[in-house]
Amino acid sequence: MEVVIVPDAKAGGELIAEAMAALVRRKSDALLGVATGSTPLPIYEALAAKVRAGEVDASRARICQLDEYVGLPVGHPESYRSVVLREVVAPLGLDESAFMGPDGSAADVQGACEAYDRALAEAGGVDLQLLGIGTDGHIGFNEPCSSLASRTRIKTLTEQTRVDNARFFDGDIEQVPHHVITQGIGTILEARHLVLLATGEGKADAVAATVEGPVASVVPASALQLHPHATVIVDEAAASKLK
Ligand code: F6R
Repeated sequence: MEVVIVPDAKAGGELIAEAMAALVRRKSDALLGVATGSTPLPIYEALAAKVRAGEVDASRARICQLDEYVGLPVGHPESYRSVVLREVVAPLGLDESAFMGPDGSAADVQGACEAYDRALAEAGGVDLQLLGIGTDGHIGFNEPCSSLASRTRIKTLTEQTRVDNARFFDGDIEQVPHHVITQGIGTILEARHLVLLATGEGKADAVAATVEGPVASVVPASALQLHPHATVIVDEAAASKLK
């Protein structure tokens, strides 16, 4: 695992956007796995700026989603499908057909999870998977004690994660779904390159446990230690508890 400390979130976003652009220059139809939440926004802004400036042609790139709420109506502005289409797919000038994600509104949720794992494999696997990290060390929505071998499946959000995400639902925790579909840790580990960005002091404990602690399901992100090509990019605040 490689750890890179950058001065701030903007610098982290720029560094990762350049790595993604370099990948797309090498492999124009790269499958880019994206995360939602606040942390990756500077990455998406920097990558879209590169596309607009003609520094990279991303017109053949493909985008896939890490996780999705269960039970939000199709088209809900905070479904992760809507968020990724709005924040990643459209700014890169891509069509919806370049996007794939799990179906959080499926009647057969387990079937939708299995179908998504199959679809990722049939698409040739994820070339670069972006990850954020929860204050409790979660990646995707693999909360503490998720199996390190887990596949895409339905999970129950912890109360803390629902509190953290209420800001996207007018601050009203009652509107935050209780369940999500998330790529499993085993699924995530199949991506060819994992890139985790963590910014802010609130992530410092989770980052220290991920990088310096033992590999343990109680800190799901520590599974990155098992991956042959994992890069952890942290700003100085998120790095503040590293030894
Ligand atoms: C969301 C996801 C989550 C977030 C994590 C951090 O797709 O994968 O693991 O990355 O909850 O969220 P932020 O970046 O909002 O602090």
